[in-house]
Amino acid sequence: ADGSYSVPSNTDEFMAQFEVNDTDVYMTSNTGTPIEDQESLSAGERGPTLLEDFIFREKIMHFDHERVPERAVHARGAGAHGVFTSYGDWSNITGASFLSTPDKETPVFIRFSTVAGSRGSADTVRDVHGFAVRFYTDEGNFDVVGNNIPVFFIQDAIKFPDLIHAVKPRPDSEIPQAATAHDSAWDFFSQQPSSMHTLFWAMSGHGTIRSFRHTDGWGVHTFRFVTDEGKTKLVKFRFRTLQGKASLLWEEAQVTAGMNADFNRQDLFESIENGMFPEWVFEAQIFEEDDQLRWGFDVLDPTKIVPEDIVPFTPLGKLTLNRNPRNYFAETEQIMFQVGHVVRGIDFTEDPLLQGRLFSYLDTQLNRHNGPNFEQLPINQPRVPVHNNQRDGAAQMYIPLNTAAYSPNTLNSGSPKQATQKEGRGFFTAPNRSTGGRLVRAVSSTFADVWSQPRLFFNSLLPVEQQFVINAMRFETSQLKSDVVKNNVLIQLNRVSHDVAVRVAEAIGMTAPEADDTYYHDNTTTGVSVAESPLLKI
Ligand code: HEM
Repeated sequence: ADGSYSVPSNTDEFMAQFEVNDTDVYMTSNTGTPIEDQESLSAGERGPTLLEDFIFREKIMHFDHERVPERAVHARGAGAHGVFTSYGDWSNITGASFLSTPDKETPVFIRFSTVAGSRGSADTVRDVHGFAVRFYTDEGNFDVVGNNIPVFFIQDAIKFPDLIHAVKPRPDSEIPQAATAHDSAWDFFSQQPSSMHTLFWAMSGHGTIRSFRHTDGWGVHTFRFVTDEGKTKLVKFRFRTLQGKASLLWEEAQVTAGMNADFNRQDLFESIENGMFPEWVFEAQIFEEDDQLRWGFDVLDPTKIVPEDIVPFTPLGKLTLNRNPRNYFAETEQIMFQVGHVVRGIDFTEDPLLQGRLFSYLDTQLNRHNGPNFEQLPINQPRVPVHNNQRDGAAQMYIPLNTAAYSPNTLNSGSPKQATQKEGRGFFTAPNRSTGGRLVRAVSSTFADVWSQPRLFFNSLLPVEQQFVINAMRFETSQLKSDVVKNNVLIQLNRVSHDVAVRVAEAIGMTAPEADDTYYHDNTTTGVSVAESPLLKI
């Protein structure tokens, strides 16, 4: 930023610095010695291989360490480079520099994924889909680590291991069952009714997308936009696909999983290869701090949407994917997205799921990379220089010249200056954020209504789309072995909609519970404030 050295801002140029071209050159060892590596050195023609053979040892050692741990979740994915173009100057709502000028271009990388399957699993299984976007802005990296479904299963990050253990393969047989129901997943969903809203979305076409190009991405949490003057607005992000949304029928998804497990990654790769560059509008619902509890739900609750008829989306810019990775491992596998990667003008909220994620990604990536220097990998490096007093660690790539790596220091050793808000530079936390109160280990009472919004979602579907949801639930629940779990699922479905419970029950030879009016209040559409909500008194 201070011009001590310059880094190309263009993605192609930047990444090109790290690309290796092996055409018409001699093979070398990792230390640059020209070698031949097709036979090992042996003691005599029929003798054993010698320990002395550094060529053998290096080649086999490197091969033995080719694999790194796959992501704990979202292991299966595909990525691409692209560009974001701002539609305007948004400095009246955010200080984020990539949104400061009309037509300003910022390089991006996207990684799409499924959640539950391992790295080698099939693309078209029914699942939530990851939609993670990195903006390499001229003030550092900003990541939106979102999904193609606007809500999440749980409200508190401490439940994440429970959710994932319930949906991942069985511990005894290691049979991955994302494509078919399994008792542990549905046991969890029925015991954790906050999952109903996401479950309904996942049982609709959003769970079986036609391609990564034909789906939206959602930031899920409410975030804050902060202006340089410290004024804040609450925001929810969406990437709206300009290809239109499309889904596979369940039968198509199943057949495709068998015939071409790489269906979605192939579609993305070939579209870009053929110059059909997919596009999304990056847009935001922007509302006031005072709106937090106004609409019958809490906007800090990640199981809730803010309906578009209450707050329409404002289009901020366009994102276009235009280049495939040149190396899957170096780029798509090694990119480390974090919800904590934010820039000036963007701030967090107190959403407890978001707060937990701020720890989890950093922590798991230390495990994936074996050390704290993964931000120095080419795909993770910001497109601006990095200056700080952090030192050493495994695989350190920089050669810091400052001889006094601490602040403050009076030795004039070349330490970086603090980028203060006063000088109009640097990230800062929104000054009006405040929180307090008694310490509690409990989900907020304002998060209690978990049935209105899945009902709102179901009612918003066309009859034929509703039938797809019913069919999906019938298929999934018909696979369940435990009648207790089946019954518990029907209890929760019945709280969302008696009609849904009856239609699912009849297909699996069970009886739905009686309709229960206690639950049938549509808070979101009737404009009841959270304080008045009858559902919070259940
Ligand atoms: C990975 C989305 C909640 C832990 C991911 C990825 C996405 C994502 C898109 C893949 C990133 C990539 O492509 O590299 C979400 C969304 C959430 C959510 C939208 C809810 C709104 C959570 C929570 C936790 C968590 C609550 C833990 C407390 C992880 C972990 C990874 C991951 C450990 C693997 C990251 C890596 O190895 O780089 N998530 N997630 N997620 N998520 Fe989440």
